[in-house]
Amino acid sequence: MADRACFLGLDIGTSAVKALAVDRREQQVAAAEVPLATSRPAPGWSEQHPDIWWQAVRQALAAMEAAVPGVLGRVVAVGLSGQMHGAVLIGADDRPLRPAILWNDGRAAAEAVALNAALPDLGRIAGVPAMAGFLAPKIAWLRAHEPEVLAATRRVLLPKDWLRFLMTGECATDPCDAAGSLLLDEEKRRWWPEIVAAVGLDEAQLPRLLEGPEVSGHVTAAAAAATGLPEGIPVVAGAGDAAAAGIGIGAVDDGDAFISLGTSSQLFLTTADYRPNPGALVHAFAHALPGRWFQMAAMLNGASVLAWTAGVTGAGDLGAALDAVAARGRAISPVTFLPYLQGERTPHDDPAARGVFFGMDGGTDGLDLMQAAVEGMAFTLVDAVAALETAGPVPETLAAVGGGSRGRFVMEVVASALGRPIRRYEGGERGPAFGVARLARLAVTGETVAEVCVKPPVRDVVTPDASRQAALAARLPLYRDLYLALKPLFPR
Ligand code: XUL
Repeated sequence: MADRACFLGLDIGTSAVKALAVDRREQQVAAAEVPLATSRPAPGWSEQHPDIWWQAVRQALAAMEAAVPGVLGRVVAVGLSGQMHGAVLIGADDRPLRPAILWNDGRAAAEAVALNAALPDLGRIAGVPAMAGFLAPKIAWLRAHEPEVLAATRRVLLPKDWLRFLMTGECATDPCDAAGSLLLDEEKRRWWPEIVAAVGLDEAQLPRLLEGPEVSGHVTAAAAAATGLPEGIPVVAGAGDAAAAGIGIGAVDDGDAFISLGTSSQLFLTTADYRPNPGALVHAFAHALPGRWFQMAAMLNGASVLAWTAGVTGAGDLGAALDAVAARGRAISPVTFLPYLQGERTPHDDPAARGVFFGMDGGTDGLDLMQAAVEGMAFTLVDAVAALETAGPVPETLAAVGGGSRGRFVMEVVASALGRPIRRYEGGERGPAFGVARLARLAVTGETVAEVCVKPPVRDVVTPDASRQAALAARLPLYRDLYLALKPLFPR
């Protein structure tokens, strides 16, 4: 392989499409990000049209080529990642029949309840009980509310797999994204016929299942012309964004654990076997690498609540607002924030939950609300650790990755809330695109997982601050009681 060879990772995030090309030494050659908007046609709904993903991918690749002329011609393999759980419905003309219904869409709450009642083994076999944002209950919702769409549906894909279809003409997915559909038998890593039938689908409508580094197809002439990528290069199955982030930081061995802070957040623990824990709403899913699984607490309200709070308080720039909170030096905000802007999955399974600022008085200012937002987000991670700990120990030191882990102040609040040191890696914010670039590399170099999926050098370790830790521990019961008190009042 030429020395100048590059591996390309494409990640269809919720807030942006991210593209990253790395060379054989894993140095970044070019990268680009194109923002995406989400539409909210009704309260609690969340949609994006698949056409905007393809448009954004093309734009991102064009930006990379403009910045580093020739880079696309150097790409020898592509890996795909993206937001999990989204329902992409494709018709007989190979076009999306409607906007995709995203992972943070709460409309299928009743259908999730009905699926859990109809299939009492669901949590044990599919890795977690049905919750509103998963693909399976959304199919059931479409059956009830948009039967004409479902009748016209030829294929059901996950977001990144629509991109694969456009690039290669193939319908395939990886075990992690398949897991997020809730249609997978996690232990066997095969579609689970009972649930596929329960939501009224036929397995022929679902993508082929491959392991993450397996080649799913090759860039077609049409896709090469549309993107500037070389025709014929392989596109690997890739990984849903949760697993892809793990592969990027070498969280591939039993016991490797990390927090991912993006639009949403996750606490992820790699396991050597399938260990369901449905009672705690832990997601026990197949990892994108063969013979590996993971346990995950998935929270719907990650760093996005910080950007939202900066916006509504008029702070404008989030970084500047966080610096101002840090400079004020208060151990804790006088205000308590429930960050459930999108409802919540772990530990509540409550699509109706909403955000709440509690305890304001005439002296409360925007910085108090900003600090409360950081603390509320950190408390969701405390609940995440508690959920995973119902099944076994969580390592004392956790890694943190994703855009939200960049800021020192946010990480100090998280470390203090958890009472645990947080390790950050060099390049830890490169995220899922980097993870799937590694999968692309595995497909073409013949190297092993142990050789490629290594842990990056540690950049720093953020330790808890004693006074912050004490203040947050004292506030935690109020945070938890507030949700329990308000739960019956959220409109359902
Ligand atoms: C994981 C989850 C999110 C989405 C969007 O269960 O819902 O990670 O994949 O990033």
